Amino acid sequence: MSIYLDHNATTPVDSRVLDAMLPYLQGCYGNPSSGHSPGRESKQALEYARAQVAMLVGVQPMQVVFTSGGTEANNLVLRGVMGLANADAGFVVSALEHSSILQSASALQASGVPLTVAEVNDDGVLSSGKFEQALNQSNAALASVMLANNETGVVQDIAQLSEVARSRGAVMHTDAVQALGKMPVNFEALGVSAMSLSAHKIYGPKGVGALVIEKGLALQPMLYGGGHEMGLRVGTENLSGIVGFGVAAEMAQDELTARTDHCGRLRRRAEQALQKIPEVVIFAQQAKRLPNTIFFAVQGIEGSTLLMSLDRDGIAVSSGSACTSGSGEPSHVLRAMGVEESLAYGAVRVSFGNSNTIEEVDLLMASLQRQIESLLKLNSAWA
Ligand SMILES: Cc1ncc(COP(=O)(O)O)c(C=O)c1O
Repeated sequence: MSIYLDHNATTPVDSRVLDAMLPYLQGCYGNPSSGHSPGRESKQALEYARAQVAMLVGVQPMQVVFTSGGTEANNLVLRGVMGLANADAGFVVSALEHSSILQSASALQASGVPLTVAEVNDDGVLSSGKFEQALNQSNAALASVMLANNETGVVQDIAQLSEVARSRGAVMHTDAVQALGKMPVNFEALGVSAMSLSAHKIYGPKGVGALVIEKGLALQPMLYGGGHEMGLRVGTENLSGIVGFGVAAEMAQDELTARTDHCGRLRRRAEQALQKIPEVVIFAQQAKRLPNTIFFAVQGIEGSTLLMSLDRDGIAVSSGSACTSGSGEPSHVLRAMGVEESLAYGAVRVSFGNSNTIEEVDLLMASLQRQIESLLKLNSAWA
């Protein structure tokens, strides 16, 4: 038996996506920059995929810059905007951001660019007041706040925060990697100037993503070479990956309601069962969250121990974000929310996906109850 409940880490490639990609790995191998017919055929596929991704977030195709994933899109926007900003300008990021923002921000700070980290409340929400304070503190040219958090699933009011950023003259960026395909994501409605996306969270391939930008937004590229992607991300395009991203984007658009309803049902069932376990604390339960995500802790049990016990039962969950789990450090997101360290060490994330079933939720809960009982017994025997 194998039950995969870690869709915020990555999703399997949908067979429709794979079918669309395969011809671009073998038969249609022309370089999209070549002027001959195989090249033109590849270019056409590239532009079709760009239109599919653009449609999902409600922008013009020319606003989509393909990258190697969410990490590169996040690095590109921070370096790209700050590289052209006035020498005394700073930037703001929220304390909740993914490591690809936080570490890129630290590297910029180390090179002398002033950074302000905006703090969040106990539910993992960034208020417009705290955001405004952070912007004022730093003469900010740029602010980056994620749309939905990968650990808690908490969704920020980006439209409101964008207004605040614009009124201060700062470029507003949102990392929408986790939100895409799990809730409506519309660039205009969010009022942002830039947005990061990734294919492998929406049943597309790994190693491909996009930075979506407002028309006229000036960015300093990170790479130099040819003129690909309007000069903002040069290098021969990952054509099969981009084609896969396009198809995954179209599927995400067509199936959004069905997917969110399905995951919502699974989560309700899981949370009802979890609430009956006295040692369980569900993080940010009252906040607006992605419908597929539960982040919780069991008092007295380490998340990594629970993860391994569930893994032995064939159930894959996460003890935090995939990039930081295994680091031995409690989640920076929970720390930012003021969660006590001992509880933060117990954090486990379950993230549902399209193919999960109610039966799998029941198997998860049965396994969890068994593991929690035996681990707590073991703890009290040692005490
Ligand atoms: C919120 C968020 N941003 C960015 C990324 C990085 O995306 P990628 O894996 O495509 O580099 C992730 C991946 O876990 C993520 O969850």
